[in-house]
Parts: sequence; C-alpha cells; structure tokens
Amino acid sequence: MKKLLITRPVAEPVLEQARTRFDVTLGETPLSEDAAAAALGAYDLILPTLGDDFTAAAFETAGRNPRCGILGNFGVGYSHIDADAAAVHGVIVTNTPDVLTDATADIGMTLILATARRAGEGERMLRAGQWGGFGPRVGLGTHVTGKVLGVVGMGRIGQAVAYRGHFGFSMPVIYFNRSKKAVDFPARQVGDLHELMREADFIVITVPGGAANAGLIDRAALAAMKPSGILVNIARGEVVDEEALIEALETGRIGGAGLDVYAHEPHVPERLRALENCTLLPHLGSATVETRQAMAQMALDNIIAFAEGHAPPQKVN
Ligand code: DGY
Repeated sequence: MKKLLITRPVAEPVLEQARTRFDVTLGETPLSEDAAAAALGAYDLILPTLGDDFTAAAFETAGRNPRCGILGNFGVGYSHIDADAAAVHGVIVTNTPDVLTDATADIGMTLILATARRAGEGERMLRAGQWGGFGPRVGLGTHVTGKVLGVVGMGRIGQAVAYRGHFGFSMPVIYFNRSKKAVDFPARQVGDLHELMREADFIVITVPGGAANAGLIDRAALAAMKPSGILVNIARGEVVDEEALIEALETGRIGGAGLDVYAHEPHVPERLRALENCTLLPHLGSATVETRQAMAQMALDNIIAFAEGHAPPQKVN
C-alpha cells in the first residue's frame, strides 16, 4: 500500500475512502519547512493544506525526485507551496478550484454587509449588555444596495462576488484584472487599479496569493480610496499591506475593512483587533460542511488519479 500523509483532518467520509486505498497517516498541525522536507522523503503521496510550508528550500532539502510524487493540495490557493520548485524536483501539485467559489463569494458578501452595517460592533455591544435600545441615530451604518462594487481579480470567485453584487444588490460593478476579461453581465473593466480604488464604494480582493500579487494593495492604493470606502479581502493576507491598512483604519482615512485573511495567520495584529471599523473573520471563505467535503474529495481524487498512473485533473504545475 502506498503511504499517504493527510496533514490535517478532513471530512470523515473522504478519510474513510482514503484508508481503503492507502496507508494513511493523519497530521494535526501545519508542517514547518523542515517537516515538509522530511514528509517529501517519507510518503508516496501528500494531501497538504494552507500553513504547510512546502517552500523552495523544503524541496531543495528533499532533493530531486523525492519519494513523494504529488501534493494534492486541499484548497484553491496554493501560495504555501512553491509549485515551480515542486516541478523542478519532479513533484506534481494539484488544487481544488470551482467547488469553493460560491462559499467564498458568500463570505465576501458577508464581509461587505457586516462591515457596512456595523454588525460585529453591534453584536459586541449587545453581548456586553451595553445596548440602550432602539434610537433613530443608533448604530447607523452605510447603505449597500446601489453602491459601486469594485472587484480586484475577476477569476471565478471575483465573478461570483460581482454577480451577487449586480443581481442581488443592484450594484454597478467595476473590476480590475491584469488580462482582458469579459463577463456575461453588466460590469466594466478598468485599466488601472487606482481608478478602481478611487471609484468603488466597496472593494473586494480576490486575486491569488503568492509573489505575483504580494503588496498589490499598497499604501498608495489605499490612499486612493474614498474616505467612506470599505476594503474586503477574501484572497490572501499578503496581497494587502497590513501595516498600511491598519494605519488607514486607525486614522479613519478609509471607512472600514472586512477581512477573512491575514499576512501571518493565525496571528492577527492586536492593533487590528482593537479597531471597531473592521470585521475580522478567521479564514472562513470555504468553510461550509458541503464545500469542505467537496474540496477533500477533489484533493483525494487527484491523488488517486496520480496513484493509478493517470494525469491528475487539477494539476497546476
Ligand atoms: C483556499 O481554498 O484557498 C482557501 O483559502 C482555503 O485554503
């Protein structure tokens, strides 16, 4: 039996299925770079996820053509894996696109609404026993319907957010995407990121993580936002300059932020946690029972395909 390492517990039916085919070892905590290198030499197959450090150095340490031939990643994002280094060392990387698009777009809308309507702040006040009752000037947020939605990165998730904004909330949609991208509902592509930052009331970041987009939303991009603008990040923490964002929120330079991802997860800066004008979620984008089961199944299907000598369908490198 081939040895399979699943680095974190996934849905039980998928685990059971894996156990009928492979000698499964189940991990509990993220793999450090050293542990990742050791795993590449110790297992035939690995099902990793966010937080497992499959860096270029980990592949270097493991050497060319290590025992492991595939990293069947659980997650559409794989910036924790150096996929180019993996290819150089003869390791296939796969991911789990599509199955999490709706769940992640829903979290984008959750963050827009919760931040605009000050839902987190209101709930904290109520739970603390500090709610003094209804008042015409109590808890006023900002309207969402009809406001301009700016989507940064018009891939599957970006389109699903834009679709929800357009059809659900009558929002005029503008988007920034490096390549030309057509969509089949009314939305305008802008050629310049700062144009989007200037014009949108709500900005949702959905670009992939990794070096190509690290720091894309920098100090200058944040400075271009409307003072009432709300920034939502459902992509990866490194895409936004976290320090510059905190300053913009602390000084009231922008209206607010809704964040599902952070630069150094699970660390969330104390200064961010102290602010009322942001909604902070613990990376819940794909976290529905149905979605997480579908992701696990897709990751395992890629591994099974590889183990049976076929090309894994969701190969990314
Ligand atoms: C993804 O699939 O990329 C989610 O962010 C979970 O890792």
